[in-house]
Amino acid sequence: MTRKRVAILISGRGSNMMALIEAAKAADYPAEIAVVLSNVPDATGLARVGEAGIAAEAIDHKPFGQDREAFDRQLDAALEAHRIDIVCLAGFMRVLSPWFVARWNGRLINIHPSLLPAFKGLHTHERAIAAGVKEHGATVHFVVPELDSGPIIEQASVPVLPGDTPDSLAARVLEVEHRIYPRALRRLAESLI
Ligand code: GRF
Repeated sequence: MTRKRVAILISGRGSNMMALIEAAKAADYPAEIAVVLSNVPDATGLARVGEAGIAAEAIDHKPFGQDREAFDRQLDAALEAHRIDIVCLAGFMRVLSPWFVARWNGRLINIHPSLLPAFKGLHTHERAIAAGVKEHGATVHFVVPELDSGPIIEQASVPVLPGDTPDSLAARVLEVEHRIYPRALRRLAESLI
């Protein structure tokens, strides 16, 4: 079995990244985590990657200012250098340019903390509670130019309980995120082999 080479892009704590790294340790997993890239040099997640013996690189977006595509070209060069097949966004807090999204079409996936198409964008847990929904959850989807809108690969729901705060709901959702992201990556990697 030739494993697909995966890059994980993060901006923060990297708990989904760790879930993917753990899953990829299984002998029969069809993907290996080749590199973790962060646009935030001091992202807490970056420090955790070294411990796992995986390459970790920061590409700070700040020097690129408003030039989104120039940053994305740098990102793309790093992905090429690591011979990446699949890109997983995991708490990567930057909108990617249409150029980048087109280039990685079908091989670029994201995890979003809601049952898409409900609650695209930020503050999903707060908005779910305010809307009074009884079910909330997480979605892994292909990335398309429109934010949080691509075809869905995996989705899982959790109940919204009386007395939930955005934090308590986020913690419940995060548990299912860590289950569905490795499953979605497995499915994508297998489909590309
Ligand atoms: C997760 O809730 C993910 O769904 C969202 O950002 C958060 C990242 O958390 N896109 P972590 O960095 O994976 O811990």
